[in-house]
Amino acid sequence: MSTRINVDGYRTAARKRLPRMVFDFIDGGAEDERTLRANRAAFTRRTLTPRLLSGSARRTQETILFGEKLATPVLLAPTGLSRLAGRGGELAAARGARAAGTQSVVSSAASVPVDEVAAGCDVPPWFQLYPWGDWDLTRVLIDRARLAGCTTLVVTLDVPVTGARERDYRNGMTVPVKITPRTAFDVVRHPRWALGLAAGPRLTMAHLVGLREDRGSSASSLAQLNLDLLNAAYSWEDLRRVRDYWDGPLLVKGVLGAADARRAVQCGADGVIVSNHGGRQADAVPASLDALPGVVAAVGHEATVLMDGGVRRGTDVVMAVALGARAVLIGRPWMYGLAVGGETGVTRIVEILRDEVDRTLALMGVGSTAALTPDMVRSTVGATP
Ligand SMILES: Cc1cc2nc3c(=O)[nH]c(=O)nc-3n(C[C@H](O)[C@H](O)[C@H](O)COP(=O)(O)O)c2cc1C
Repeated sequence: MSTRINVDGYRTAARKRLPRMVFDFIDGGAEDERTLRANRAAFTRRTLTPRLLSGSARRTQETILFGEKLATPVLLAPTGLSRLAGRGGELAAARGARAAGTQSVVSSAASVPVDEVAAGCDVPPWFQLYPWGDWDLTRVLIDRARLAGCTTLVVTLDVPVTGARERDYRNGMTVPVKITPRTAFDVVRHPRWALGLAAGPRLTMAHLVGLREDRGSSASSLAQLNLDLLNAAYSWEDLRRVRDYWDGPLLVKGVLGAADARRAVQCGADGVIVSNHGGRQADAVPASLDALPGVVAAVGHEATVLMDGGVRRGTDVVMAVALGARAVLIGRPWMYGLAVGGETGVTRIVEILRDEVDRTLALMGVGSTAALTPDMVRSTVGATP
C-alpha cells in the first residue's frame, strides 16, 4: 500500500531515496532544532472552529498575488542546490508548480539558473536574493532575474551568516559532496540518486558561475564565494537600494516581528514573508505561525503578508490564511516530492495540499479561503498568540 497519500508519506519515501547526508541537509535545522520543531508545534497547538450547515457545494481557494492568479495559496519556497534532492532541480520544481497552478521562487543559490527555469515555464518564476555585501554583483544578479522575465523579487534577510546545521557537520555533508569512507558508503547505497545527479551538469551554485573570475570556478570555491558574499552588516539602506533598483513587487523574507515588518514596508517592500527559514538559521526564535498575527496586525492593511515554516497539511494552510497570511510557501515538502517523483512529484505535493485545503473548507463550512477569519482559529494550552 502506498504511503504517499500525504506530505509525511512523501517524506518517508524521500528518506529512503536519498543518502542520509542529503536527506538530513534538507530535513534538518540549526543547532538544537528548537525552531524547526516549534514551527510544527505552533500548528498543533491550535484548533479550527467548524460551523455546521453554512458550507458551499463548490469551494474556491484561488488567490491573486501581485496580479498572478494561483489555483491555491501555496507557493514553492526558494531552496538552494535543489538538484541534490532530485533530477531537474529548480526547473523540475518550477514546472511541477505550474502544472498545479501555482508559482515558485528560484533561490540565488540555485543549482539551475533562473533564465533556464524561466525558459522552461509558461510564466517566469519569482526570484530570491541574499543580502550580499557587493552591490555590483547584486545588480548583476537582479539584472539576470529581470532579463529572465521574473516579476517579483524576494529579499531574504535572515541570513547575515549561515546557521549551524549540526546534522551536516556530523554527516560530513559539504558542497560539493566530499567522498570520504563514510560519505562514499552513504552514496553507493543510493545508486539511483547518484546516477540522477551524475546525469546532469556538475552540481554548483549556478548564478555564481563566472561572477568573480578571480575566485575560480570549482563548486567548492563558488560555495565559499556564496558564504563570503553574505554581509552581516547589511542595513535598511541596502534594502532601499535594492528597492530602488527593482521595479516590480518586492517581498522581504525572514520577518518575525511587527517592528521589522513596518521597517520593511517603510523601505518600500510590497509585502513580507513571515519566516524563520524553516528553523535553519537562528534557533530559539519564534515559530512562524506564532509570529504571524503580530505582523498581520502591523502591516496587513497596507502590505501582502505571506508565511512559511512547518506547513505540511491543508489544515495548516487554512490556519495560516485564517490568521491573515494571503498565502503560504512550502520548502521541504516540495523537495520530498522532487526526490520521490521529480516534476510530477512536486505537482502531487501541491495537489495533495490543495485537496486537503478544499476538504478542510468544506468540513469547516466555509466557501473560500478568502472568507477565512482569525476567529476560526483557537489557541490551545501554552500557545503564544
Ligand atoms: C534545503 C533548503 C535550502 C534552503 N535554501 C534557501 C535559500 O536559498 N534561500 C531562502 O530564502 N530560503 C531557503 N530555505 C528556506 C525556505 O525558503 C523556507 O523558508 C523554509 O524551507 C520553509 O520551511 P519548511 O521547509 O518547513 O516549509 C531553504 C530551505 C531548505 C529546506
